Amino acid sequence: MIPILIFAFLGLAGPSQAHVAAWHKGMYCLNGTSPSDAQNPNEPVNPLWNLPKSQWWFHHVNNCDQFPPAPGDFLELPAGGTFTVEHATNRAYTSLSYGGQYTSDWPDGGHYPDDYSMPNNDCIVTPNLHTKNQAGAAGTAFAISYTSDLTQVTEDNLAVFTVRYNTPWKRIASYDVPADLPPCPPGGCICAAGWVPNGCGQPNMYMLPYRCMVTGSTSRKTVAPAKPPVWCEGNLSACTQGSKQMVYWNQAEGNNIVTPGYQADGAEKSPGYNMKLGFQNGS
Ligand SMILES: *[C@@H]1O[C@H](CO)[C@@H](O)[C@H](O)[C@H]1NC(C)=O
Ligand SMILES: *[C@@H]1O[C@H](CO)[C@@H](O)[C@H](O)[C@H]1NC(C)=O
Repeated sequence: MIPILIFAFLGLAGPSQAHVAAWHKGMYCLNGTSPSDAQNPNEPVNPLWNLPKSQWWFHHVNNCDQFPPAPGDFLELPAGGTFTVEHATNRAYTSLSYGGQYTSDWPDGGHYPDDYSMPNNDCIVTPNLHTKNQAGAAGTAFAISYTSDLTQVTEDNLAVFTVRYNTPWKRIASYDVPADLPPCPPGGCICAAGWVPNGCGQPNMYMLPYRCMVTGSTSRKTVAPAKPPVWCEGNLSACTQGSKQMVYWNQAEGNNIVTPGYQADGAEKSPGYNMKLGFQNGS
């Protein structure tokens, strides 16, 4: 049995341009979409680009939104604390598979220097982090919707509540939870992970659903309807203030931001979870 598992594992660990997802037992598509791949699926890591909204919304393009986590498995969000996910190119490289034996500090089970970069300032492609170095990593985010029913989530009721700059980078990533994030309904909330890489490959985006639950909160606040982020690089007063939607970009339809032109560093504008759209680091 073990050689078969390792063979399957190596098959996926080959030179394919695997991307990165935030793995957690509360995610949809944890087992992928085929029971035979449950230990090493990579369906959730596929990027979203130029798709109709029916396809990109919650990663429906390969039916990830049809595979909820097991009953009782939630991404727990401790109010005022932090939660942790594993950024990886395949579940095989997380603690969720094979007893964690193929994990390393990095998303692909590999070993690289802390200041990992390529000669000639090329893009890092192993793993496919869509960046040249940690400083260039665009940032990732989580958003929350106060419904337990994924089909009830809309752009307006799915608000970004935490951002971690310079990710994805290493495997383990922690995010801060606002102290006043209100409790979820009894069946939990729906959360989403987002990432828009800054160059280094196809200008795509990532959106993946989770079941989540806020713990330790007595807040009675409600989350304001989320507004689309706008480009505000170098001009804070132009940023969308308050509750912001996720970034829906470069799809065939349903975009909430269109970014002609060039950003301050001379590259084509890339609207990520960072100050170019007014997203602060943290909660
Ligand atoms: C994933 O697969 C395992 C093993 O087949 C099963 O026990 C578990 O319930 C599945 N989880 C989900 C979320 O489908
Ligand atoms: C900054 O944004 C505000 C609001 O959109 C705008 O009125 C102002 O002209 C901008 N300032 C600069 C220097 O571009």
